[in-house]
Amino acid sequence: MTDKFIFGRPLDTEAVILGGLEPADAALLEKFFHMSEKEIEGGEGLLFTCKMEREDIVYGLGENVRGINKRGWIYESKCSDDPFHREDTRSLYGAHNFLIVAGGRKSFGVFVDHPGKIVFDVGYTKLEELVISIPDKNVCLYIIEAGSPEEIVKEFRELVGSSYIPPKWAFGYGQSRWSYMTEDEVREVAARHRENGIPLDSIYLDIDYMERYKDFTVNEERFPDLQGLVEEMKAQGIHLVPIIDAGVKIEEGYEVYEEGVEKGYFCRTQDGRNFVAGVWPGRVHFPDMLKEDARRWFGGKYKFLLDKGIDGFWNDMNEPAIFYSEERLQEVFEEIEEYKNKNLDIQSFFAFKDIVAGLNNNENDYTRFYHEYHGEKIRHDRVHNLYGFNMTKAAGEAFEELCPDKRILMYSRSSYIGMHRYGGIWMGDNLSWWSHLLLNIRMLPSLNMCGFLYTGADIGGFGADTTEDLMLRWLEFGIFTPLMRNHSAMGTRRQEIYRFENTEAFRNIIGLRYGFLPYIYSEFMKASLSDGMYCKPLSFVYPQDEQAKRVEDQLMIGESVMIAPVYEQNADGRYVYLPESMKMVRFRSLRDREEIVLEKGHHYIDVALEEVVLFIRRNHILPVAEEGGQCVEEVDFKNLTLLSFADEETQYIYYDDDGYGKDYKNTGNYTVLKVSPEK
Ligand code: GLC
Repeated sequence: MTDKFIFGRPLDTEAVILGGLEPADAALLEKFFHMSEKEIEGGEGLLFTCKMEREDIVYGLGENVRGINKRGWIYESKCSDDPFHREDTRSLYGAHNFLIVAGGRKSFGVFVDHPGKIVFDVGYTKLEELVISIPDKNVCLYIIEAGSPEEIVKEFRELVGSSYIPPKWAFGYGQSRWSYMTEDEVREVAARHRENGIPLDSIYLDIDYMERYKDFTVNEERFPDLQGLVEEMKAQGIHLVPIIDAGVKIEEGYEVYEEGVEKGYFCRTQDGRNFVAGVWPGRVHFPDMLKEDARRWFGGKYKFLLDKGIDGFWNDMNEPAIFYSEERLQEVFEEIEEYKNKNLDIQSFFAFKDIVAGLNNNENDYTRFYHEYHGEKIRHDRVHNLYGFNMTKAAGEAFEELCPDKRILMYSRSSYIGMHRYGGIWMGDNLSWWSHLLLNIRMLPSLNMCGFLYTGADIGGFGADTTEDLMLRWLEFGIFTPLMRNHSAMGTRRQEIYRFENTEAFRNIIGLRYGFLPYIYSEFMKASLSDGMYCKPLSFVYPQDEQAKRVEDQLMIGESVMIAPVYEQNADGRYVYLPESMKMVRFRSLRDREEIVLEKGHHYIDVALEEVVLFIRRNHILPVAEEGGQCVEEVDFKNLTLLSFADEETQYIYYDDDGYGKDYKNTGNYTVLKVSPEK
């Protein structure tokens, strides 16, 4: 049951698509939260307080730091371009305001549908209190009650609509780098994978494929024939995926800029000038993605690349990231001047340092520009979290119009709930740290709860230098994430896997992904089509098991499999908790595997650096392809080997389709697979 509570005059974020919900009686809310009005950040705001029981678990909040259980920290909903995902980070790139309080006396979900800043204090100030504070009095809140966390998620997802479905090839392995600079470099990446027998389905084009970082242009010196390259790569089963950034470079003669200015499509300052910010290209304007005609216009621009045969994109810098605003930059130059003749002491030195350090993503800058949203002029900070959503919506709506029968790969860095209908997300600029591998593991189910099924992190880590063992361990987990992409930043150690010594191990691990694809794709599609989850915490599947509730580093992948990734350096195994008897399968490659049945309880398992271990649930089936392949198209989705752990006749509903079209409802996409009991 979902109850909607309205305070003041909330903005319609378009996150919720389920119609016909009448506002509930405000008194009903008292069962869950005590609401009070309060001054927050110098303005009128609302505070929602909920007493938690010791045993309550708080799930959700999507893309965020810390555990699957979010208790014990304070999180902010404020899409931020922050590459240092530390334990004390409060907000990352997305704003996913959905959480579940599960356990104790009551279980319920709450979705705070509000596009400005929100603070979720989940037992930070007081261990047993959940406090949601919003510096605004216009808010819409949904409370969802259902029998279990899983049912709460399902009901929530019915409220916000079904998750985006990418083309099947997007489940293949992707290789990215900031940046592959030339056509030849792209060719080399493709060739080295193919020579080494390492499967690959996509190569990413980061900002340097553009002419001076201008969206919807191609640098013709470096990429003289992009269309030709796209075809050449497709003939090898490889798709090129270019990046699109939010800011449009200010440059005379650049069509996108000139058209945007002429038609009034850019965000404006209070006094009506086009707002100027600095990002990769230097000074840019931000298209007003919230304004319908501007959004349509920007979306239409993707045609430039679609016409070259491109069928996948990643949208970036759409929090939007701001290196500086024109105004702030001028202020900084003036402020610095004052320090010129100072004796920089303890206070003044740090103040001086902070002036420049505080230039990018400066909170104040987000109050300097305005949107036109549903015909109303609104200051950016009030709708901040909708920007990335609407950039991706621009693309999604355009794809629907330009190629209605074809799936296009799309994922974004910034997001808000609702955007999950138009694209996936990647988890932003992580680092080549073991702790970020663990963070990746924990974020996956939280994102699934919020509707972001097509997701994954930069495998191997984006910033900082990776190591061969981190790369192996990360891939061993990454083969289970729907988006499986190796990406790294300029200036860091190269991490295309053919650069490491142990090619065979890498080939086998990525080969396993391709072998598991029938299952991964089937489970992803079933989750998406039924508003379910592809990846769950153990407690969602074993709600009666008190131990399972506390497990933070094992996950359920689809209905048949549990994984327990190794995420510590130099570990050659780990402790695992089995909530029931399961069959452990240890893979060195698709064919080289061994199986052993383990009893319910705690185990220590050995997992060598080159191995992937997974657990098949009792009376469940894991269908794997008999043959992998060099790309998704080569994978045999029809002739399957059924790995299973069955002590009774067991069946699995297998979903498969052509992977490009949208005929999802066709009953022919489903097959029942059966195995007989093992002796
Ligand atoms: C941002 C993106 C990253 C990309 C870089 C250059 O940091 O998050 O993935 O490589 O910009 O475009």
